[in-house]
Amino acid sequence: MTDRPSRLMPTYAPAPVTFVRGRGCELYDDTGRRYLDFLSGIAVVSLGHAHPAVAEALASQARTLLHVSNLFRTTLGEEVAGLLDDLVGDGQPAGGLVFFCNSGAEANEAAIKLARRARPGRPVVVSAVGSFHGRTLGALAATGQPEKQAPFAPLPGGFRQVPYDDLPSLEDAMGDGQVGAVLLEAIQGEAGVVEPRPGYLRAVAERCREAGALLMVDEVQTGLGRTGRWFAFQHEGVEPDVVTVAKALGNGAPIGACWARREVAEAFEPGDHGTTFGGQPLAAAAARATLQTMVELGAPERAERAGRRLREGLRGLPGVAEVRGKGLLLGVGLEEPRAKAVTTEALRAGLVVNAPRPDTLRLAPPLLVSEAEVDEALGILGGVLERTGGGS
Ligand SMILES: Cc1ncc(COP(=O)(O)O)c(C=O)c1O
Repeated sequence: MTDRPSRLMPTYAPAPVTFVRGRGCELYDDTGRRYLDFLSGIAVVSLGHAHPAVAEALASQARTLLHVSNLFRTTLGEEVAGLLDDLVGDGQPAGGLVFFCNSGAEANEAAIKLARRARPGRPVVVSAVGSFHGRTLGALAATGQPEKQAPFAPLPGGFRQVPYDDLPSLEDAMGDGQVGAVLLEAIQGEAGVVEPRPGYLRAVAERCREAGALLMVDEVQTGLGRTGRWFAFQHEGVEPDVVTVAKALGNGAPIGACWARREVAEAFEPGDHGTTFGGQPLAAAAARATLQTMVELGAPERAERAGRRLREGLRGLPGVAEVRGKGLLLGVGLEEPRAKAVTTEALRAGLVVNAPRPDTLRLAPPLLVSEAEVDEALGILGGVLERTGGGS
C-alpha cells in the first residue's frame, strides 16, 4: 500500500492490509504473508479463493461472450435459473422463475417490487427489527436498523418492522389487511448471527398463508449451503413464495437473484423491472460453475460437518459466552464487548474474521475448509482471546 490519500469515497474504514491473492481458505497480502480466511468476503467465497472450476468458467466465458443485454435470451441464464430452482426445491424442481441482478440489495428490491405487483392494494412489506436487507433505498427501508436509515430520510413508505422471533407482534402488524408480504432472514447475519426459536419461520409461513401475504425469505447471507442445508428455510421445512440470493452465487463474481413461485413471478410483465447487467454471461458462467461444483462436492454436508467441529472448538475458547448459528455461519458471543479488538489482533495473528456486533465475532469460512484449517484457526483465535484478556 502507498501512503497516497485514497480516492475512494469514505464509506468504509478498511483494515490496514492489502490482499493480493488467495487460494482455498488462504489469503496472501502484498508482503507475501499468509492468512486464514474465516470470513470468505462475508459469506461470498464459499468454494474458496481462486476455485479452478470458477476461474476456468470465467476465463473461458471472457473469451466467448461477455455481454449482450437482457434484450436477448441467453442459455446460461436459463441454466442457472434451473439449477437454482432445483436447490430451492432441495434437489427437486420447485417450479419457480428467477430474476437475475447484481447484488443482494437488488435481489431484495426485485422482491419488494414483485410483492407490490403480485399483491396490488396491499403495499406494506413487514420485516424484522435488527434485519439487514441492503443499502439501496427500498432495501434500506426494509432494514430494521434505524441508525442506518436515519441519515437518509425520507425513505420510501410502505414498510413496517416488528421484533424478530415475536409472532404476536407480526400478527398485530398484519391485522389491517394492508400487508402484501413479509420479508425475513431465516438467521439474521448482520445482526450478529441471531437465530429465532425453532418453529418461528413455520408459524410465520402459516400466518402469511392465512392472510394471503407473500413469505419472502432473504437468503443472501444464509443461502447456498452455508447453514448446512441449501437454504436456511429448509431447516424449518417451509415453502417460501420468494427467495433472494446473492453473495455466494458467483463465488465472488457479482450476481444476485430473486426466485419466486411461478404464480407470483408471473405478476411481472415486460417493462416492469430490469437491469443492464443482471444475469449477464460472465456472471452467469461463474454462477453455473459455482452451483454445479457445490452440488458435486455436497457443499451443505461439508458445511454441516466442518461447522460441528468449529462450533465445538469455539465453545471451549477463553471468554466465549455462546456460539450461535448453523453450519458455517457462526456468531461467537463474547463475555465482554471486545470483538473489534479481537478481530484486529486476529488479523495481526493471520486470521480473518469480523465483528458484526461489539460483543460478537462472525466466522464464515469457505464451505470446503479442512479439519486442519479449522484446528489452525481455533489455535490462532484461542491465543488471541487469551492475549486480549479472555477467561477473566
Ligand atoms: C441478509 C442480507 N441481505 C442483503 C444484503 C445486501 O447484499 P449486497 O451487499 O450484495 O447488496 C446482505 C449483505 O450483507 C445480507 O446479509
